[in-house]
Amino acid sequence: MASPNPPGSGKTTLYWLLLPIIIPVLISAVIYQLETFDAAPLPIDIFSNPISVPKRHDRVLSVSERIGEGLLLGPEDLAYDARKDLLFTGCHDGWIKTVSLRDDDPNVQNWTFVGGRPLGLALAPDGSLVVAEPGQGLLMVRERGTMKLLTDSAEGLRFGLTDGVDVTSDGKIYFTDASYKYPLEDLLMEFMEARPYGRLLSFDPETNQTVVLAKNLYFPNGVSLSPDQRSLIFCETLLLQCKKYYLDGEKKGIIDIFIQNLPGFPDNIRYDGEGHYWIGLASGRSYLWDIIFKYPFLRKMMVALEKNHVRIPQIIENGGLLSVDLNGQPVSLYYDKGLYQVTGGLKIGKYLYQGSLSKPYLTRIDLDQHVARDV
Ligand SMILES: *[C@@H]1O[C@H](CO)[C@@H](O)[C@H](O)[C@H]1NC(C)=O
Ligand SMILES: *[C@@H]1O[C@H](CO)[C@@H](O)[C@H](O)[C@H]1NC(C)=O
Repeated sequence: MASPNPPGSGKTTLYWLLLPIIIPVLISAVIYQLETFDAAPLPIDIFSNPISVPKRHDRVLSVSERIGEGLLLGPEDLAYDARKDLLFTGCHDGWIKTVSLRDDDPNVQNWTFVGGRPLGLALAPDGSLVVAEPGQGLLMVRERGTMKLLTDSAEGLRFGLTDGVDVTSDGKIYFTDASYKYPLEDLLMEFMEARPYGRLLSFDPETNQTVVLAKNLYFPNGVSLSPDQRSLIFCETLLLQCKKYYLDGEKKGIIDIFIQNLPGFPDNIRYDGEGHYWIGLASGRSYLWDIIFKYPFLRKMMVALEKNHVRIPQIIENGGLLSVDLNGQPVSLYYDKGLYQVTGGLKIGKYLYQGSLSKPYLTRIDLDQHVARDV
């Protein structure tokens, strides 16, 4: 006769009995997680060698001067008012701040609190600032807190990540919604899924009309009007390219490739008034990024792991600023292995100002002293 079970062992037996059920349930749950996220292949081959840039400076960190350290938190985009010698930047604490460049020692001031996380900025002809705030939409902001929402949807679809903006000299606004699906907090999901949820749009303050100029874009980001304002260039981050949209002339409404196979993921783009666009590269290309973007199942796995709180180290390095001419030919690249989340740059006089998604300061480089060299 078997001895009576010691107390508690009945429970243990139950666990053993349930294991064949628990394990498959757990595995199914994981597989289910894998199944729900559907990563897509990219539509074009972005995996060929990056374009070669004739001039380079690869030690940007060591020659950069910090501005407004601790006051400018994640200064993403930059707009410049030449009359006042004043720089505007949007920070991740919801503030638009100004930096006066009048003196040698730049002076930082709080300008207007808009909340959220202001991204793209552009000055309108009347001196107000148009702000792309990813959660709220497109805002018109004046000093000391007056702001109004211009638009937050088009064709019945609400914007999810209002991102880049530029304004013509007669006040017409061109901007991007990088993704109607994922908010800024889910940037990784957006990139891992790799579907075209973005749109290029315009807003006319005279009619209050929002028009969709292009849809099905792969994370359209920064926007810059050409100097003659007859076209605009916008960056399509996920496809490592910038496109040109014609606003006028025979090709009106047509989109061409402006530059492809960039050496990194493009973010903002700004024209410098001297024949060059400056494109922020949030991260440089790497073998690992290429592999991840080539194979959707890897991206799906990364997301499944992230969902299960396994942090995937993200290799973001070799960020910087690329200048290209008006024909989309690369001219110079200012970068550094240790640089990442560079969002954009503005050349003002001899200085190249550089924004960042995460650093608590702006930086600038004296281009007279630190010249990109032939490679
Ligand atoms: C300026 O902005 C910072 C946040 O960046 C805030 O802590 C501070 O209170 C603001 N100062 C004023 C005078 O509003
Ligand atoms: C545009 O919207 C504003 C409110 O934001 C309103 O005051 C103005 O009258 C509108 N203009 C037109 C042409 O509808």
